[in-house]
Amino acid sequence: MTTSAYDQVAYPSYPFPASHPDRLAVAAHLSGIDAAGVKSCRVLELGCGAGGNILPLADTLPGSQFVGVDVSSQQIDEARHVCDAIGLTNLELLDRDILTLDKSLGEFDYVLCHGVFSWTTEEVRRKILSVCTTNLSPHGVALINYNTFPGWHLHNWVRDMIRTRALTFAGPAAQIREARTMIDVLIAAFKPQRQPHHGLLLGELENMKRYSDEFLFHAILNFQNQPFYLHEFVSCCEDHALRYIGDAEPALGWIGTVAHDTATQFSQLCPDQVVLEQHLDFVNNTTSRRSLLCRKSVAVSREEQAQRLAELHVSGSLKVASDTSDPNVSVFQNPAGRKIATRDAGLSAALLAVANAWPASVPYDTLTRDSDVGRSTWEPDLLNCHAAGIIEFNLRPSPCNRDLDERPATTRLARRQAANQDFVTNLRHQAIRLAPAQRQLLQYLDGTHTHAELATLTANNEATVIETLQQLAQQSLIACGDEDA
Ligand SMILES: C[S@@+](CC[C@H](N)C(=O)[O-])C[C@H]1O[C@@H](n2cnc3c(N)ncnc32)[C@H](O)[C@@H]1O
Repeated sequence: MTTSAYDQVAYPSYPFPASHPDRLAVAAHLSGIDAAGVKSCRVLELGCGAGGNILPLADTLPGSQFVGVDVSSQQIDEARHVCDAIGLTNLELLDRDILTLDKSLGEFDYVLCHGVFSWTTEEVRRKILSVCTTNLSPHGVALINYNTFPGWHLHNWVRDMIRTRALTFAGPAAQIREARTMIDVLIAAFKPQRQPHHGLLLGELENMKRYSDEFLFHAILNFQNQPFYLHEFVSCCEDHALRYIGDAEPALGWIGTVAHDTATQFSQLCPDQVVLEQHLDFVNNTTSRRSLLCRKSVAVSREEQAQRLAELHVSGSLKVASDTSDPNVSVFQNPAGRKIATRDAGLSAALLAVANAWPASVPYDTLTRDSDVGRSTWEPDLLNCHAAGIIEFNLRPSPCNRDLDERPATTRLARRQAANQDFVTNLRHQAIRLAPAQRQLLQYLDGTHTHAELATLTANNEATVIETLQQLAQQSLIACGDEDA
């Protein structure tokens, strides 16, 4: 199997919220790096496939320049087709092998490489790192996604069981079919859980059974799948004069993901950030990382994070939870079920302001100005809320509108996706599946139609249109006309 496997079986192409340049810019900012603003930056994506990640970025950041590279000409053609159909002029799509890239491609403020590093050869891996060294701008940030140990020890245990027989068949269709047969046979074998390891493997297999054919083929049957321990990856990066900043998913570096006593012991035993994060991976059985890198010459410091909050905007889809019996405790919950309980009046007021603003954001300074309580008491907690994925920080105001304009608009790409596929990419760079009525209405949201006109176009009454628009706004699909966003 070679990379042409991606021409044979197309890989589903999605947006990755963690790879949004604003997310990278925030991580850099909190680490003391002055990365480029996302409204006018240069972004390179290596292995961009059919453009699920780079197309919405180019669409929503028209003042920035994007280059996507992939060796699969079929997927690049697919991405070009969409690029032309929605009229993007800031995206160049190159049908090229990463191995052929050099300095002539220019410098980029952000380099993204998702789903490639573990699934390719050692030669290409080295080249990906050398592209980061050669083509990153002086304060540029790269994101490299890869599979990790220890999580992949368990995945590989099951992967080996599936591949052994399936790969004796020729061609993707037969291999996928036989892999599915073996998944069913093994689920039945482990279900009675006669031995201690059966429960673990059963969970893995049941999860794998839900994979799409395309994902099963590329993630499980693909010949290459090399996971790394974080410390191994960081050491390879250092060999290429690259410095580890942290992960694009802040939770992977957050000590709050382990029990309090363990956190205290880890803090004593692991004074170095990489060693600490490695031990968090051990406890959390991490399967995948999205590591952020900069040039070795750039200084990284997390010392003054609290002071750096002042330049940020805060957003979060939060609801006040009703399950508290103590009137002095406020509990906030996000749609993923993550909760924060606090007795701190300042933090509670700040989170309430964030909840009320959703899907728009609140400038951090407004939160502190409007709070009666000195901010230094709750700044560390706000940083923890960010690390826990309860709130988001951005370096620009949210591009999402909470209020319904007279002529509401979404993005060009979302309108096209609503007409052609089963998910759309929202303004937070997330893939969203819509109900049929939402999908129908979204296609008309080009900012030229009033609510009454939308009602006529969709054969609905105006009240229904407004209700559907409000649902779309809550899903971050209505753009705000604000030039600053
Ligand atoms: C598993 S897919 C990941 C696609 C997408 N980035 C994602 O994460 O969903 C790997 C992609 O990398 C591309 N690829 C693999 N090796 C490559 C190489 N040497 N040069 C350019 N593209 C490559 C494949 O064609 C494929 O589109």
